[in-house]
Amino acid sequence: MPAYGVIGAQWGDEGKGKIIDFLAADASIVARYSGGNNAGHTVINHLGTFKFHLVPSGICWPHTVNVIGNGVVIDPDVLLGEITDIKSKGLDTSRLVISDRAHLIMPYHVALDRLEEKRRGSSAIGTTGRGVGPAYLDKVGRSGLRAGELLNPEDLMLRLPDIVKFKNELITKIYGGEPVAIDSLYEKTTRWASELAPYIKPAEDMVFDALSAHENVILEGAQGSLLDLDHGTYPYVTSSNATVGGALTGLGVGPRGFGGVAGVFKAYCSRVGSGPFPTELLDKTGDHIRTTAHEFGTTTGRPRRVGWFDAVAGRYSARVNGMDSMIITRLDILDGFDKIKVCTAYEIDGRRTDKFPVDTVRLGRARPVYEELKGWQGTTSGLTNPRQLPTGAKDYVKRLEVLLGVPTSIISTGPSREETVVMRPIMGR
Ligand code: GDP
Ligand code: IMO
Ligand code: MG
Repeated sequence: MPAYGVIGAQWGDEGKGKIIDFLAADASIVARYSGGNNAGHTVINHLGTFKFHLVPSGICWPHTVNVIGNGVVIDPDVLLGEITDIKSKGLDTSRLVISDRAHLIMPYHVALDRLEEKRRGSSAIGTTGRGVGPAYLDKVGRSGLRAGELLNPEDLMLRLPDIVKFKNELITKIYGGEPVAIDSLYEKTTRWASELAPYIKPAEDMVFDALSAHENVILEGAQGSLLDLDHGTYPYVTSSNATVGGALTGLGVGPRGFGGVAGVFKAYCSRVGSGPFPTELLDKTGDHIRTTAHEFGTTTGRPRRVGWFDAVAGRYSARVNGMDSMIITRLDILDGFDKIKVCTAYEIDGRRTDKFPVDTVRLGRARPVYEELKGWQGTTSGLTNPRQLPTGAKDYVKRLEVLLGVPTSIISTGPSREETVVMRPIMGR
């Protein structure tokens, strides 16, 4: 069986971790291809509650290899902390693989991320402050450090003084920040090298071998398509390709190996950080959703902005990813609403459109045109069988399918692995 993209279809936090943990029952590899520890993926199953930032969400299964691909940027301290934490919860990390081509997030990247945000003032992006943007900037600028270099730490340390000197000039002279101490970097590099070396391997070969042996490989998305560097609400985006295209370069796989792309959507929308969000609810309904759904960032703890489902953005997301199915999570959060709104078009400067605009300033002026659907009585919470779904819930899902032009494969009715309804099997599940 082939590679399956399971990717964020909105602005992140759609419940990718929960879904990937469910689907990984039938996968031999789960592979992250983009982003860094700006991600926070919640997995809840019989082994406990996990919040993964870098480790792929298949790690709870004894049979899956979990690959951190070359497209990911890795903060070694964060990864080591995560490895220690999940080992202490009884998980086996010997099936974790770090691509030798993945770039490293260094302490100066974290410092620069925070200083740049401060400098942006009122137009700050609201980054997670984890150094992700500056690390990708160095990758593109051809001055990054890669995980494979930790296998020869002496050579790497020879490169550090020049790099750190330049970064410290930027930090102190341009931003007026505190310089990064080179001695502590030598110490860190030595520790990273000894503790991470067993995991660092040429990951492309593994993915290639699994696909050649017709095994299932899940391409684990991070962030969401509307935060994608090319296709998202630029400049209020992250610095990598969260869309499925990122998986080709971020793992070194070819499109012939693809079996499908499932977009994970919340039954409503959320966003953390700045940037346009046409269906944002700034009223009591928004507060109600945020409170009942506990919409606070998994990585930063920031309150998430919430709003109604945006089918204009959703249709765009389905297209730029070539989705062949959608996965709807958190349907249970809409239980008990009398009416549920779905945005089917925007009105921008007096004109109606059903196209997602490229211009973020125009998108900021978009007024949502809503269709009102009847809610449902009864609960979807914890359901596992499609026949148990209330009629109103089925109608809501059917309407989203029509608006987006893709069928639903899975509906999630709660945060735990088993709280899942399969509408149309994917990957044999
Ligand atoms: P990710 O970044 O896409 O993996 O999503 P996050 O883990 O950051 O945020 C999703 C939140 O929704 C987490 O707290 C999950 O435990 C929770 N969650 C996922 N699916 C469901 C669901 O169907 N219902 C409910 N109530 N919570 C869910
Ligand atoms: P997961 O994988 C939600 C957002 C940040 C900010 C923008 C840029 O859990 O869905 P960055 O630190 O990447 O430079 O910040 O992107 N962002 C996320 N929002 N979920 C995420 O990941 C995110 N990763 C980044 O809030 O608006
Ligand atoms: Mg998250």
